[in-house]
Amino acid sequence: TTPDAAAPPVRVEREGVVAIVTIDRPKALNALAPEVLGALAEAFEELAQAGDAVRGVLVVGAGGRAFVAGADIRALAPLTPEEGAATGRLGHRVAALIESLSAPVIACVDGFALGGGLELALACDFIYATDASWFGQPEVRLGLIPGFGGTVRLPRAVGLALAKELIYTGRRIDAATAEAAGLVARRFPDRESMLAGARATVEEIAANAWTAVGIAKRVLVAASGTPTATAVELEVAGFEDAFRTDDMREGVAAFLEKREPGFRGH
Ligand code: CAA
Repeated sequence: TTPDAAAPPVRVEREGVVAIVTIDRPKALNALAPEVLGALAEAFEELAQAGDAVRGVLVVGAGGRAFVAGADIRALAPLTPEEGAATGRLGHRVAALIESLSAPVIACVDGFALGGGLELALACDFIYATDASWFGQPEVRLGLIPGFGGTVRLPRAVGLALAKELIYTGRRIDAATAEAAGLVARRFPDRESMLAGARATVEEIAANAWTAVGIAKRVLVAASGTPTATAVELEVAGFEDAFRTDDMREGVAAFLEKREPGFRGH
């Protein structure tokens, strides 16, 4: 086997409270072959065990040309309809693990985020991108449709009209257009400044009450796309949970006593 074939397709590194998940298959523009999806699922399962030691996760693509150029088209080619559906479910499992992780997950896009790559980014809490990035759902050009959540999360991110236009045309949009559409939370001139910006964001999040951030994420994920009345009830339940934490008592007391809070993560 070549060194590239032997290398694990997903690496997880820890830098203090930040975890960096790198999809490392640059020769195929980090395409999500089944083994890559499996390795991503394993990585996020392990990160869930880290508890409050990891306060934020950055997802990046290796090689400097792509975040992820989609599901692996070579692996999709021979699949039966049933096997295709199973691959879709594997992608959805990765998305569910990202959404169920208490720590916020930031997709750091530098280059192509296409098809399953954009869908992976959409499953993250928000997207940072370099000016050299491109976004699209080109599946219909292959006779497919988005399979890892694009028909669900893209309209929520950019509205139904632009989502339909992108999905029906397969067209790519650049980072500035994606930012204007609300798909990209922040745009950076290059990869280095993006990663520095994402690390700084995690540090800022880490200074807040871990419990509150986790409850907020849980409510935001669960409420997304539900009717207002259901969403409001989810928020009430989360608000109630926040009142149960020591960190909430500490946070409000610190404000009233004009001092910095000492959060303990429970
Ligand atoms: N799957 C498998 N291999 C891929 C790939 C993918 N999604 N995207 C790129 N590659 C491979 C290419 O086959 C090529 O490999 P070889 O060197 O062995 O030929 C290598 O990566 C480099 O790609 P290109 O030579 O094509 O590079 P380029 O600069 O000319 O073009 C690109 C870049 C526009 C991103 C082009 O590679 C491309 O269009 N990729 C496919 C994008 C796509 O259709 N994504 C959707 C996939 S389906 C999907 O994701 C379904 C779903 O919703 C889950």
